[in-house]
Amino acid sequence: MNQIKIFSPATVANVSCGFDVLGFCLDSVGDEMIIKKTSQKGINISRIEGYELPFEAENNVAGVSALALYNDANPDFGFDIEIYKKIKPGSGIGSSSASAAGSVFAINELLGKPYNKTQLTNFAMKGEALASLCEHADNLAPALFGGFTLVKSLSPLQILELPTPKNLFAVVIHPQIEIKTSEARAILPQDVSLKKAITQWSNVGSFVHALHTENYKLLSESLIDVIVEPHRSKLIPHFEDVKQTAINHGALGCGISGSGPSIFSLCEGKESAKKVHDAIQNIYSQTTIDFEIYTSKINTEGIKIL
Ligand code: HSE
Repeated sequence: MNQIKIFSPATVANVSCGFDVLGFCLDSVGDEMIIKKTSQKGINISRIEGYELPFEAENNVAGVSALALYNDANPDFGFDIEIYKKIKPGSGIGSSSASAAGSVFAINELLGKPYNKTQLTNFAMKGEALASLCEHADNLAPALFGGFTLVKSLSPLQILELPTPKNLFAVVIHPQIEIKTSEARAILPQDVSLKKAITQWSNVGSFVHALHTENYKLLSESLIDVIVEPHRSKLIPHFEDVKQTAINHGALGCGISGSGPSIFSLCEGKESAKKVHDAIQNIYSQTTIDFEIYTSKINTEGIKIL
């Protein structure tokens, strides 16, 4: 195989209670990438469509993660990358991670799969760090593994694959404003009270248990973030309105997707997701802010070869 085309999905990180550790993978929105082997050594980015991003591999998220893998594998040929970007940078649905995970996934396929998914996540974290100024894997892991994932530790990198309840759907609204992950991280307090920490780790534990037992009621009760959301929600216009409306229309929970501005809701069943989708859409339709809204199954496969 000398060429591969892939779909690299958007992802929702944090999932309310699991800041920097929980994430899940979306199905209906993502980037496409074409990667080819070249006789010339190194990583070359020949085409970027959708958004303006740097072409120099060492300044591009997909390029940096590709270089990390390439320098480790040291093949006697190179790779050319074409990026068809559909996920707006700074959207909160893993735009940088789709690029970073996509390039290492595709190159690994073209090399005959010498690396496992955890190793690929490690390479991709180098690219993710370029965008958010810190290494984190809560978007990368669901993009590469699919479904729900929990980053148990970064050093050594340990990723746990969690089960996906069959009837779970996500609604994600993406207001077309940009929030830089680095800035959304900078406003967070470095210390939390013991009381809040207890609430948060109780919710993360319950959430994981709810996934394992397909307990939608417990899942709903666990989708609460007392540490990060109170700070970041101020950056997102109409966040409280959207959240309250989603819950009132039957969502299991609603929170900030990654570092925002996207807002996700989890719903039991397609019908429920449709009601939540329409109600949220109605809120943003009354504002002057452009937005996109997606309803998606949870993508249990992750990156797909097209
Ligand atoms: N966990 C990261 C954060 C995800 O919230 O800063 C960024 O998409």
